[in-house]
Amino acid sequence: MLKNKNIVLGVTGGIAAYKACDLVSRLVKAEANVDVIMTQNATKFINPLTFQSLSSNQVIVDMFKEPKYWEIQHISLAKKADLFIIAPATANIIGKIANGIADDMLTTTVMATKAPVVFAPAMNCNMYENPILQSNIERLKALGYKFIEPSKGRLACGDMGIGKMAEPDVIESYINSMLDRKKDFAGKTIIVTAGPTREAIDPVRYISNHSTGKMGYAIAQKAMARGAKVYLISGPTILKAPEGVQLISVNSAKDMQKRIMEHYDEANIVIMSAAVADYAPAISHQQKMKKDNEKLSIELVKNPDILYELGKIKGDKILVGFAMETQDLIENAKEKVIKKNLDFIVANDLYTEGAGFGTDTNVVKIIDRKGNVDSLPKMTKLDLADLILDRILKL
Ligand code: PMT
Repeated sequence: MLKNKNIVLGVTGGIAAYKACDLVSRLVKAEANVDVIMTQNATKFINPLTFQSLSSNQVIVDMFKEPKYWEIQHISLAKKADLFIIAPATANIIGKIANGIADDMLTTTVMATKAPVVFAPAMNCNMYENPILQSNIERLKALGYKFIEPSKGRLACGDMGIGKMAEPDVIESYINSMLDRKKDFAGKTIIVTAGPTREAIDPVRYISNHSTGKMGYAIAQKAMARGAKVYLISGPTILKAPEGVQLISVNSAKDMQKRIMEHYDEANIVIMSAAVADYAPAISHQQKMKKDNEKLSIELVKNPDILYELGKIKGDKILVGFAMETQDLIENAKEKVIKKNLDFIVANDLYTEGAGFGTDTNVVKIIDRKGNVDSLPKMTKLDLADLILDRILKL
């Protein structure tokens, strides 16, 4: 998707500049053309030669240094860019651009570009939370500039808090979705469910499963990139919601059903990739249960089958289910398509290598209402997400 795209990377002076090297290497591997502009301060952290070697392009730092190609360079890079990313973006660069200051190669080029500009901030947590910085970010956002939020953690200065630059893989996938111009889901609203549900036994313990949410988050990311309005209704996971989707976090199957129903009327499409627990404890104890007995039985009651209930009120919506099986994959999946009144089902087998829970890939069979089975090779969950969306379009 990044093949032959022109990406201009602005690197500013922060310790996270080392991560920008990995970013350039990823973008180049994806066959993008990367031009790097560094601020003077950035060169104190990383030698321009590193970026030059990784990108195979000359790195620009000083506007006034011989040879004076800069006069056209800042305009030509500004025009050539399909996307501008500033990573790491310091409080200083954000402040300058928010206030129209163009006093070096990076700020001048940003000022001259019409390409989308994305900031990946990195700084100390107190700086990040400073209202001056926050109001500069708000100002830029209002003007259409994009931000990839930093994460929380231990910062280079030793403080704990928000301010760690997003990881290069997160930035890469953000760039991917920005440049994915195929907006063939514009005007559509999609509900995607992801992750496991947790059914409480008591305030400490629960019944759940191994779903990580990767499959559902990939679908949400691709649907958003293709122009849809996306409600991502997710059970507990450590994943960060893709930028732009509306994340609704839930715990139990009943929670999930309730939150789906709040948006069901608005939705054109529902894709249930969540691994919903089929049973929940009959009683969820208010206090932690004591371990007094040698044996303990927990009575379970059936959870609502969310997809089955949605199937009863399908109307002209498109309903897509997933099926996770350990045996008789096709037979079971065929039965579910009909029983749950689905348009098609995506079936994965737990015992197939590279399929199912936690992997970045999946190996699936897609089964439609007529019983047609399409066996797909192993592919990334992101590619599968695109393929599922392509199928939906054909419907
Ligand atoms: O999250 P990952 O780690 O990336 O893993 C992805 C996945 C393996 C969870 C995903 O690919 C997957 O297979 N999800 C569906 C798992 C599942 O619950 O399968 P099922 O055969 O039990 O359910 C069939 C369908 O009914 C599913 O769409 C499920 O969301 C839905 N369902 C199930 C039970 C229930 N009570 N209500 C439901 O709506």
